Amino acid sequence: MKIAIINGSQKPGESNTGIILRELISLVNKDHKITNHVLGVKQFSPEMYKEIMAGEVLVLGFPLYVDSIPSNMLKMLIELEEYIKKEDVQDIMVYTIINNGFYEGRQTHIAFEIIQNWCERAGVKFCGGIGQGAGEMIGATKNTPINKGPFNNLGRELALLVKTIELKEPFWIKYLSPCFPRFLWRFMAKHTFWHSLAYKNKLKKKDILKRIM
Ligand SMILES: Cc1cc2nc3c(=O)[nH]c(=O)nc-3n(C[C@H](O)[C@H](O)[C@H](O)COP(=O)(O)O)c2cc1C
Repeated sequence: MKIAIINGSQKPGESNTGIILRELISLVNKDHKITNHVLGVKQFSPEMYKEIMAGEVLVLGFPLYVDSIPSNMLKMLIELEEYIKKEDVQDIMVYTIINNGFYEGRQTHIAFEIIQNWCERAGVKFCGGIGQGAGEMIGATKNTPINKGPFNNLGRELALLVKTIELKEPFWIKYLSPCFPRFLWRFMAKHTFWHSLAYKNKLKKKDILKRIM
């Protein structure tokens, strides 16, 4: 079976989406052929759409942007839909993995609805997927094996998702938060991530607290 994977993160270099997709790929039986496409800020060529649609399964991975899907991903989906209709592509199963910055993976439910509506419109089969919260923590803990650290529930769900993909069955939509207390996550995100990022960008504490309106 051919599986096409699209990483819709706009980050140059390593993204949280990329880390999750890498884990998913490592779980897929080596008999299957995987093509892994990183969208970034560029757009795909018509040859790329042909290659993506040559398989039976499509896995979409992307970060949540403003409760929705990133603009590059939206543009790509519009072009992909045109390709599907023009070439009369049939029987594609679409699985989706969305990660978001807030703690609760349920924040991704609107983006899942958007993908579901797109699937109906494009004539492909929506097969559910995973909505993962605390996405930036995935990058911060990437050296811990996924089945041992705060994302061991994600590791379990990815293993189930891969089994389901290999059977070409629909998956449910699973919303996940890390196995880590929310208050500690907030404290650590503030002090180890946001503050250091602000200082790197030459901002002071009072700049972070400043209200725009
Ligand atoms: C422009 C922008 C909008 C975002 N909007 C949301 C949002 O609405 N809800 C949320 O939980 N996280 C939001 N985030 C956080 C990202 O979803 C989060 O950082 C994610 O882990 C990035 O994944 P990536 O490394 O795969 O790009 C936003 C990030 C950016 C840059």
